[in-house]
Amino acid sequence: MVSYTVIGGPSSEQLGRKISSKLNSKYIGTELRVFPDGESKITLKDKPRGRIIVVQSIYPPVDSNLVRALAIISEARRYSSDICAVVPYLGYARQDRQFLPGEIVTISLVAKLFKAAGATKIIVVDIHSMIALKLFQIPAKNITVVQELVKYFKRLKLKNPLVVSPDMGGIARARNFARLLSVDFIALEKHRDRKTGKVVVKQGDHQQVRGRDLILVDDMISTGGSIMKATQYLRKHKCGKIYATCTHALLIGDAEKKIKQAGVTKIVSTNTIPGKTSIVDISPIIAKAIV
Ligand code: R5P
Repeated sequence: MVSYTVIGGPSSEQLGRKISSKLNSKYIGTELRVFPDGESKITLKDKPRGRIIVVQSIYPPVDSNLVRALAIISEARRYSSDICAVVPYLGYARQDRQFLPGEIVTISLVAKLFKAAGATKIIVVDIHSMIALKLFQIPAKNITVVQELVKYFKRLKLKNPLVVSPDMGGIARARNFARLLSVDFIALEKHRDRKTGKVVVKQGDHQQVRGRDLILVDDMISTGGSIMKATQYLRKHKCGKIYATCTHALLIGDAEKKIKQAGVTKIVSTNTIPGKTSIVDISPIIAKAIV
C-alpha cells in the first residue's frame, strides 16, 4: 500500500486536511511567520514520509503564496523523490500569452520554478486555459470540478434555468455546465480593454432570457467586473433571478458587494480559494486525481 503525507500550505490548510482525510494519509501543517519586510518563514510541523502531496493555492498575496509553495516543495524534496504539487488555484495562469508587445508570459517562469523546486508532478483545478499547462516541464494535470457546482444547482428549484457564459472564451465551460444540468446555454460578447481593464458587453438579441432564472458560469471571479456587466445587461432583458458561479472566487476588494448590488442573488464557488462563497467542497475530486 502506498503511504502518503499531505502537507497543507498556509493558503490551503483546510482543503489540505480534507484531502488528507479522504486519502487516509498523514497530515502535516505548517507554521507561517511573516517578517516586517514581507519575507515568509515557514516551518513544517512534522517530518513527511512516503509520497508527498503539497497543497497550496496561489491566490493573493500571489507572489508570497507562490514562494511559500516553492519553499515547502523544496523542503519536502529532502524526504522524498515523489512530490506532487496540488495548486488548486494557480495564480499567473491568465498570463499565458502576449496580448501587447513586450508583455512577459510570466506563467512560463512559474512553470520552470515548480520543477526547479523539486515538484515531480502538478495538479491544478479548472485552469484558465490549457496553454499554461503545456509550459510545465513535469507531468501536469488539470481537473475540472464543474460537475460539483452543477450538483449544487440541481438541488435548487430554479425557474426554467438558462446557463450564461459572460464571454465567448467561456463557451466550452458553459456548454459543459448546461449539458450536465440538462438545460440550454448562451454566451455574451464581452470586450475588455487590455490597457484599462474596462469591460463592456456587446448589445445583442437575448429575448430568450426573459422571465428565466440565469446561472452565470465563469472559471473565476476576480474584480467582479465581468459578472457585474453581464448582470446589468441581462437585467435589462427582464430575466428572473441571477446566480453567479465559478471555480475560483478571488473577489478582490468589495467585488462581492458590487456583484450583489448589480442584482446577483447568490455567488457559489468552490474551496480552491477559501471564503464566504466557497460552499462547494472539491477535496473528493482532488483525492481521486492523486491516487
Ligand atoms: C476571463 O477571461 C476570465 O474567464 C474571467 O471572466 C475573468 O478573469 C474575471 O475577472 P473579473 O472578475 O475581474 O472580471
